[in-house]
Amino acid sequence: MAGAGTNRQWLFRHPPEGPHDTAAFEWSEGTVPSPADGEALVRNLWLSFDPTQILVLAAPPGAGGVPVGAAVRGLAVSQVLASRHPSFQEGDLVHGYSGWEDYSVIDGHGYFETTKVPAGVPPDLALGALGVTGMAAYFGMTEIGRPTAGETAVVSAAAGGVGSVAVQIARLRGARTIGIAGGPAKKEWLVREARVDGAIDHRSEDVGARLDALCPEGIDVFFDNAGGPILDEALVRLRRNGRIVVCGGTSRYAARPEPSGPRNYLALSLVNGRMEGLLARDYAPRFPEAVAALRAWIASGQLRIKEDVVVGLENAPSALARLFDGSNVGKQLVKIADAPPPVPG
Ligand SMILES: NC(=O)c1ccc[n+]([C@@H]2O[C@H](COP(=O)([O-])OP(=O)(O)OC[C@H]3O[C@@H](n4cnc5c(N)ncnc54)[C@H](OP(=O)(O)O)[C@@H]3O)[C@@H](O)[C@H]2O)c1
Repeated sequence: MAGAGTNRQWLFRHPPEGPHDTAAFEWSEGTVPSPADGEALVRNLWLSFDPTQILVLAAPPGAGGVPVGAAVRGLAVSQVLASRHPSFQEGDLVHGYSGWEDYSVIDGHGYFETTKVPAGVPPDLALGALGVTGMAAYFGMTEIGRPTAGETAVVSAAAGGVGSVAVQIARLRGARTIGIAGGPAKKEWLVREARVDGAIDHRSEDVGARLDALCPEGIDVFFDNAGGPILDEALVRLRRNGRIVVCGGTSRYAARPEPSGPRNYLALSLVNGRMEGLLARDYAPRFPEAVAALRAWIASGQLRIKEDVVVGLENAPSALARLFDGSNVGKQLVKIADAPPPVPG
């Protein structure tokens, strides 16, 4: 914990040249800010990490990027310490845009509006399976992928935050599930915990050959988090009326020069296939429905949660890098400080 009156921060210096460019951030110890009218002072407790942050950090400030010298922004769960905002009271646990720092002043606005963490939801889950991560998995799989019993669903980055939830939702809908992930530990988690029907290690195995072996009839639903060569392998194995959910393309975000598009997209025309993007934010009015379904599956043990918790604000830049070298198993989080006990609900 910081001493009283000290605000430890990661300030933005310049767009990172790659995920491991820690010189893009500067450690600083400033003072705790004061909220003006319409603002609240929060203690940040947990930070969420998403691969698209590398794109935001590369964008000009006017296009959503971070101003040089400001604290790096990110989704967080925080506790309100003082409020001059009509929607938040001292003691509230809130979820929304905050900063890589101990204390932030928030106005409640951002790409996602700040909301109170529902009673009984732990802060880590509010950022992971019950946050944007879980919302992308839930709506991507139930609204776009829509696997049914007997169909084959394949998920890339299947042991990551979004993928680990998405692949289990496909299983819960009765589909045969195949998870693609990097390394033996992720593969083992997929088989033992996520209870997939097959797992592929894309770092040591021939993805195409393994898909042929595990999906001899082809793929009905491909939920893509990775893009790149894995997407190309899935495209040519799509079955008639197959669906590809374009959730993300982490392999592309930091690749320079930017790779060209999927080589095998014309395969869609041979099978009446569909490739459709997902923007979790657009489903915000329906988040409560997804949270209720996911909480019920978690409570019954049907949905296993995997989180990768790095402790300490000082480790925020390296936590972001973990998403690009595949070190993270499950949702990448940084814990800064302890939360108060959850309110039963
Ligand atoms: N559309 C939306 O609304 C929405 C919302 C949230 C997130 N997303 C997207 O969903 C995706 C997953 O996000 P997340 O937060 O859950 O991250 P994550 O999957 O937990 O972490 C990123 C993972 O990407 C994989 N990866 C990294 N470089 C790769 C490469 N070159 N080739 C193949 N795989 C690579 C690694 O897993 P392996 O070790 O398995 O390779 C790494 O662990 C991201 O693309 C994110 O932008 C979209």
